[in-house]
Amino acid sequence: MWNFPTQKKEKEKYMFSKAEFILSAASPADYPELLTISGKPMAEIALVGRSNVGKSSLLNHLTQNKTLARVSSTPGKTQLINFFVIDDHFALVDLPGYGFAKVPKEMREQWGDLIQDYLQKRKKLSLILLLLDSRHLPTQEDIQFARWAIHYKKPLIIVFTKTDKLAPSAALSQCAKSFTLLSDAINAKPIAYFSYSIKNAKGRIALIKEIEKRIQ
Ligand code: GTP
Ligand code: MG
Repeated sequence: MWNFPTQKKEKEKYMFSKAEFILSAASPADYPELLTISGKPMAEIALVGRSNVGKSSLLNHLTQNKTLARVSSTPGKTQLINFFVIDDHFALVDLPGYGFAKVPKEMREQWGDLIQDYLQKRKKLSLILLLLDSRHLPTQEDIQFARWAIHYKKPLIIVFTKTDKLAPSAALSQCAKSFTLLSDAINAKPIAYFSYSIKNAKGRIALIKEIEKRIQ
């Protein structure tokens, strides 16, 4: 049977052609119930990482929408869990950044509770993208988060951001080094890693293909 045209149509459906902001949640009581057109719970993809690592920029770049998520040069801007629906089919969730030095200790602990609660409660969380700045080695907080992801048995992918700020060969070796360091520290291997820059389209397409695999 020849069915290539149908397959092609299916593929084109999920290329981040539509993105819609749903709500910002301050606690689990605010989490939305997101259903697909056929009434099934939507698969969810979460973005997480240090403050200022580029989570909102990545979301805007993936969706090709410069104003969807607020981008800031002031770390700590996104304090809430922001839900977006993509192509009416799955959700992208922008989690609050961690590691902002000026945030008081109690707020950092609150952040830990909020994130762990989210990891535990969202049954349809199909993939976590942990963003790391390609110029720096993973911090203790990055490692802590990766440990939680493994503990809650959530598929984890590392995305190295801002690779345009390094020479291509330095970016390659730095990402490989950080990935090994993180894998060793958590005693597990995340599924894969990707390098990303909002200044070019290469990383975007590779990441979209990976996301497509996870939301079927
Ligand atoms: P919080 O919301 O505070 O947690 O930060 P965030 O992780 O959402 O970071 P955001 O997307 O706001 O980006 C922080 C800064 O990094 C902004 O000035 C962005 O323009 C810049 N940035 C993000 N991605 C890239 C990239 O790929 N290349 C370069 N050169 N700059 C980037
Ligand atoms: Mg942000």
